[in-house]
Amino acid sequence: ATILVLHGPNLNLLGTREPDVYGTTTLDDINQLLTDQALAAGHHLQYLQSNAEYELIERIHDAAHQGIDCIIFNPAAFTHTSIALRDALLGVGIPFYEVHLSNVHSREAFRHHSYFSDVAVGVICGLGAAGYEFALQAAIRSLEQNSK
Ligand code: DQA
Repeated sequence: ATILVLHGPNLNLLGTREPDVYGTTTLDDINQLLTDQALAAGHHLQYLQSNAEYELIERIHDAAHQGIDCIIFNPAAFTHTSIALRDALLGVGIPFYEVHLSNVHSREAFRHHSYFSDVAVGVICGLGAAGYEFALQAAIRSLEQNSK
């Protein structure tokens, strides 16, 4: 199967961005780890980080024609603002997992609401970079069960 990992705005700064909140792992580290994890399980991974909402929307639209089986998505600040990204995911109907490095529920009130959680397969937050690994593990297990 092919799994797409999408990273929203400011996640290109991981490693140096508020390390007390987001840790010191860089985005390259995360992408490399996930690529290895997917390949070890016999699957393929693609990824994109963008600071632009429209780029993420267009990548989601393209995914529908590219045989992407599921998406792992950290929408970052767009989590709390983007009806357009929510609609893009609903529009293509590709199952997705929502991931946040930090525990958004222990932070400012404006981070408590997500435009994605009620339509995601599952949501992981507060576990740092490991959250992506757990989401990928869940995605792979689900894809393998569905293909039996
Ligand atoms: C985040 C949480 C969001 O509230 C924030 O805007 C981010 C990152 C996280 O991974 O913890 O940019 O999605």
